[in-house]
Amino acid sequence: MSTTANELREEVRRRYAEAAVAAELGGCGCTEEGGCCGNVACDGEAASFGEALYDAEQTGELPEAALLASLGCGNPTAVAELREGEIVLDVGSGGGIDVILSAKRVGPTGVAYGLDMTDEMLTLAQRNAREAGVANAHFLKGYIEQIPLAAESVDVVISNCVINLSVDKPAVLAEIGRVVRPGGRIGISDVVAENGLTTDDRAQRGSYVGCIAGALSVGEYEAGLEAAGFENISVEFTHKVADGMHGAIVKATKIRKPTGKALPLVQSPATAGCC
Ligand SMILES: C[S@@+](CC[C@H](N)C(=O)[O-])C[C@H]1O[C@@H](n2cnc3c(N)ncnc32)[C@H](O)[C@@H]1O
Repeated sequence: MSTTANELREEVRRRYAEAAVAAELGGCGCTEEGGCCGNVACDGEAASFGEALYDAEQTGELPEAALLASLGCGNPTAVAELREGEIVLDVGSGGGIDVILSAKRVGPTGVAYGLDMTDEMLTLAQRNAREAGVANAHFLKGYIEQIPLAAESVDVVISNCVINLSVDKPAVLAEIGRVVRPGGRIGISDVVAENGLTTDDRAQRGSYVGCIAGALSVGEYEAGLEAAGFENISVEFTHKVADGMHGAIVKATKIRKPTGKALPLVQSPATAGCC
């Protein structure tokens, strides 16, 4: 990774570490302009980010610190249609809000993993999961560009406003494609740009750590997921977060492997007739 990419990732880590510590103390770490994804919600203005995107039934199930640390731009658990017994992975799990909700949905026979690179977020998420009384939530430290799980080990990948923060988005999508089993699915909330917007246009509309400048466009998301082995790809805008940029739900299914049915054997002229 280049120095610039390293520095950018470190800036992201530092900002979200601050947000985790602030949430632990009962406050909001995103008060500075463009400080982090969810800045608007912290300022108490019209909420395009954070806990306002969850319904009352869901927020009632969650500890206060998990809600305070909610920095997403959607509600992936509402679209992923989780079923009992499934294995779910939340990439960039933050304070654990979507992992806790997923753990409750998949029940004791299922597992919900959260993956995050920021120690302070992992500590907060573990505490929140304990407080919420879920025993089937597990938090892993690592990068979403190198997911520390085996290939085809997960039924569903969810994520909430994280992929835009990655400095290597093709690697993230490839890793998601690697860990999801054939026929498995993704339900991702993210900031997504309209196709006409250049990377400069996106950078003019907001900061990188604020989840705007690094957003993929619809076409980039679709192409990246197709390259990662997904089909039935849809990117649906849900709410505007900046001019030409939206909170969106990204859904797709991992292509099933060929059934293994034997193809009719075609013999080359050289071998035909030979025993
Ligand atoms: C905007 S917050 C969203 C957190 C959570 N999904 C939510 O909805 O509240 C982004 C989170 O992603 C994590 N993150 C960002 N880039 C990452 C990367 N490359 N690898 C692992 N975690 C990352 C940050 O540490 C932070 O906890």
